[in-house]
Amino acid sequence: MHSASRIVSVDDVPEETTFLFRVRPVDGDEEKEAILLHDDEGVVSWLNYCQHFTHIKLDKGSGAEMRDGEVICTNHGAYFEADSGRCTFGPCEGAFLNEIEVGVEDGDVYLVDDDYEFVGTGEIETAKDDLGSKSNYEF
Ligand code: FES
Repeated sequence: MHSASRIVSVDDVPEETTFLFRVRPVDGDEEKEAILLHDDEGVVSWLNYCQHFTHIKLDKGSGAEMRDGEVICTNHGAYFEADSGRCTFGPCEGAFLNEIEVGVEDGDVYLVDDDYEFVGTGEIETAKDDLGSKSNYEF
């Protein structure tokens, strides 16, 4: 697999939480965050957005909450199965996370999704200057 699409080594994907990385749609320029986590068969990846409110991130930068193989959205307590992405409990029960295709070769995880290109690891950086425009205060 191409080195530009290497995300991380399998050994560096945490067991009890998620690994955060960034992708860009090949037909767009807006970066998105994705999470990588272990499931019963290896590793799996989902876009890092809850299906209740899709601007809410599951992993807010320090790993998502997980319990018994499920990712938890801490905003309103939705649970998502790690291996299927299906919401098993909470306000979006029955909805599915959006899958990002990844593959493993020689101990490394690669992005193999035709719809996305790998950008880098970690969260999307928001410019400090932008914080003012995201204020809840309107005058
Ligand atoms: S935003 Fe995730 S459960 Fe409400």
